[in-house]
Amino acid sequence: MKGDEKAGNQFEGKEVYVKDVFNDIAPYYDKMNDIMSVGMIERWHKFMFKKAGDITGFSVLDVGTGTGELAFMSAKKAGPEGRVTGLDITPAMLEMAKLKVPDLDLPAEVTFVVGDALDMEFGDDLFDLVISGYMLRNVTDIQTAVDEMYRVLKPGCLAVVAELAKPRNRVVRWGHKVYMNRIVPFWGRKYDKGKVIDGKQPAYDWLTSSLEGFPYGQEMIDIFEKAGFTDAEFYVKSMGAVNIYVARKPQ
Ligand SMILES: C[S@@+](CC[C@H](N)C(=O)[O-])C[C@H]1O[C@@H](n2cnc3c(N)ncnc32)[C@H](O)[C@@H]1O
Repeated sequence: MKGDEKAGNQFEGKEVYVKDVFNDIAPYYDKMNDIMSVGMIERWHKFMFKKAGDITGFSVLDVGTGTGELAFMSAKKAGPEGRVTGLDITPAMLEMAKLKVPDLDLPAEVTFVVGDALDMEFGDDLFDLVISGYMLRNVTDIQTAVDEMYRVLKPGCLAVVAELAKPRNRVVRWGHKVYMNRIVPFWGRKYDKGKVIDGKQPAYDWLTSSLEGFPYGQEMIDIFEKAGFTDAEFYVKSMGAVNIYVARKPQ
């Protein structure tokens, strides 16, 4: 695949490519997140924790934790009796997360581990809450990632997952397309300079092309249900740019 070609969500060599992307962008990931989400990310995260309910004392797993924002929020909500684990496949992202810890005065312990969401080195039925933000687009097998979330959750507990989506409304969809295809690459090139990664597209082109063929809405709910989750629901945020999935592992 040439550097200027759009890759779509799945392609050969994706695992190495994705790791290289996040390795490259780790130092400016937080700043770009704020710019790209037009400051909405905090609202999406607040909603996720509203859906998670009272998590005081919980053992929480943040899958694809990146620079740790959801893990830190989990620690604040879980309090001194809580425990939070942030797992990510890219060590450079976890290094950025660890750098933030000393300034945060977190009430709960947060442990960061390098690991693959498709094959997590945790036992079954371990966590009171699994949380994940914007990771599923990046994996080579979405069903296996959701199956793994299910496996490590205690029966009766929730998974709360945020992911990008596409708006349904035609007009909003048009605006979203312009934003993703023009504005995101424009801002991205300020940072990634349009540099092809691993023989493929530049880092911020991935943000756009990872949405191509990526399941969202009911299609994603089907994946959660296939994993065994019940009461799976999705909430449309920012006019459809983001979906938040909430699903329960039955007792
Ligand atoms: C878009 S970032 C999201 C980071 C963070 N959750 C947030 O809300 O900002 C996606 C993260 O998923 C991680 N990731 C991609 N594939 C993974 C895998 N198979 N297992 C674990 N983490 C993965 C990447 O390294 C990256 O840190």
